[in-house]
Amino acid sequence: MCGIVGGSSKRNVLPILVEGLKRLEYRGYDSAGVAFTANKKITQVKTVGRVADLESQLKKSDESNNGIAHTRWATHGVPNTKNAHPHSSLNEIFVVHNGIIENHEPLRNNLIAEGYKFISDTDTEVITHLINYYKNAGHDFDSAVIRAIKDLKGAYALGIIDVNNPDFVIGAREHSPLVVGEGIDENFIASDVMALSQVTNKFKFLEDGQIAIISNDNIEILGKNGAPKNIATQEIDSTAYTNDLAGYSHFMEKEIFEQPTAVSNSIEGRVLESGPQEGIFGAGFEEALVDISNIQIVACGTSYHAGRIFEYWSHKFLGINCRVDYGSEYQYQEPIKTQKTLLVTISQSGETADTLASLRFAKKTDNPITLTICNVANSSMCRESDYTMLTNAGPEIGVASTKAFVTQLSCLSLLLLTLMKINNKPENSIKKISKALMDLPKNIQQTLEDLEPYKKVAKLIFNKNSALFLGRGMYFPIAREGALKLKEISYIHAEAYPAGELKHGPLALIDKNMPVLAVVPDNEHLDKILSNIQEVAARKGRVFSIGPISKTEITKEGGHINIPKTLDLLNPIISIVPMQLISYYTAIYKGTDVDKPRNLAKSVTVE
Ligand code: G6P
Repeated sequence: MCGIVGGSSKRNVLPILVEGLKRLEYRGYDSAGVAFTANKKITQVKTVGRVADLESQLKKSDESNNGIAHTRWATHGVPNTKNAHPHSSLNEIFVVHNGIIENHEPLRNNLIAEGYKFISDTDTEVITHLINYYKNAGHDFDSAVIRAIKDLKGAYALGIIDVNNPDFVIGAREHSPLVVGEGIDENFIASDVMALSQVTNKFKFLEDGQIAIISNDNIEILGKNGAPKNIATQEIDSTAYTNDLAGYSHFMEKEIFEQPTAVSNSIEGRVLESGPQEGIFGAGFEEALVDISNIQIVACGTSYHAGRIFEYWSHKFLGINCRVDYGSEYQYQEPIKTQKTLLVTISQSGETADTLASLRFAKKTDNPITLTICNVANSSMCRESDYTMLTNAGPEIGVASTKAFVTQLSCLSLLLLTLMKINNKPENSIKKISKALMDLPKNIQQTLEDLEPYKKVAKLIFNKNSALFLGRGMYFPIAREGALKLKEISYIHAEAYPAGELKHGPLALIDKNMPVLAVVPDNEHLDKILSNIQEVAARKGRVFSIGPISKTEITKEGGHINIPKTLDLLNPIISIVPMQLISYYTAIYKGTDVDKPRNLAKSVTVE
């Protein structure tokens, strides 16, 4: 996943492109580059590292009205200047690309046979030469692009400029997001609206197969075969897309502290003490879901863990079979015809390639009712699902997901309540859960008041090589999410196990150097997990426990972090907050790059 931005303006476009790239760095940050037209030629500047490095390499005198820019997350070819985008063909055609061209090898061989020389290891370079090839065969710039993309298999969002057409930028998309931003005397393309929120609040969202030809005073959208297309311009509230740190040291820290407000925003107006409101998932949702017999959830990463918690809720409170799959697995299974199924995709970005491909796969093979729980309005998943619930978390910049997770769980609680209502579950249970859900922001706030216990645990584990996370029942996905947070940002190997499985293997790893973090529920599993903790303590393992109980004696060596108690079904949501903070402080003590951990990216738009 890379970030692309391009623009054509009557003013100098370079500062706008660089600012756009900074806002897109969440998509990848191992190299960056820009290409711009000036004095009848195209100049390019590329660098390994961050956008700030690129900015410092641009000369004060560099000015241009037309250009494309890129921040990279390497897929084909290591991160170096040679592989950084833009890629050029004979210094005439320059391309920035997000995605993967699956048939790049045969295309490359054909182009080599035609005399083109390749200098990078990327799949992208074939696109530049291909466009050049079709231009040389007699096509205009735009028709050469249309012809070239017909040869491409895979996923792409492209920004293209041509030395012979210095007033135009062409964008194209297939399975990777691309928006067009409409300004005054200037127009842009970008991977998302956030990249352009400093210059416009008017956007057109390209569909797969469409191309956009922009100049400073015109936007033309064409379909796959070059026929003109009309896409409505949408006004998006750009104030929702600010990305400043507001006094925090990192976005992850800021986003952890935003969680009470984020949860409020995700439930406000959707639930009252009497229960969930009608139509919160879209008109007709309640009628459509009568008699569903299966729920299939598909998601990746943190969003997958949110789905796994719903699985327990569905079985316990609805008696409806629920299955949760990773996007990268689901789309490749043998299609099974099910009886009336609700397919729920969960995604912060709404663009994760594996989840999106699974949604498309399910629609084709099983035709379920589709719902997406997503943080980005107008994302591909929102546009392609029958029903949508926006999580309203606000932009999440830190690569390690935090507020997206708790808001996804808030929305999933609303889904649970709505399904309980549809399935005539007792009104008093619905009311009890609704009330507890409304108190959740307050409960989460309480976990943010005293940070010392988290720092204390972090100080004890930051110099360890591995950590084990334990949970049972619906707290097991929380243990998994806790382990994911720790490994993502502190690079400590962290593994989560259902506590009962400890004796079937992982116990062999326990010694004084293996910290164990256990999520302790106040439910029927409590005594069992306390026994598991004893098994660890007896082998000199250091246990830190987190839960809504005050049994401080459970871990003499490590420590216990008490969290506010709410209904058992909602307590997992509260218990993730201490884990996020322990991971955050561990990364701080280790000195890693919290917001941009190595090798990762926020939005994964390649399979
Ligand atoms: C990446 C991010 C994770 C995220 C996952 C799924 O791996 O680094 O934080 O959980 O993608 O993303 P999604 O946008 O679909 O929730």
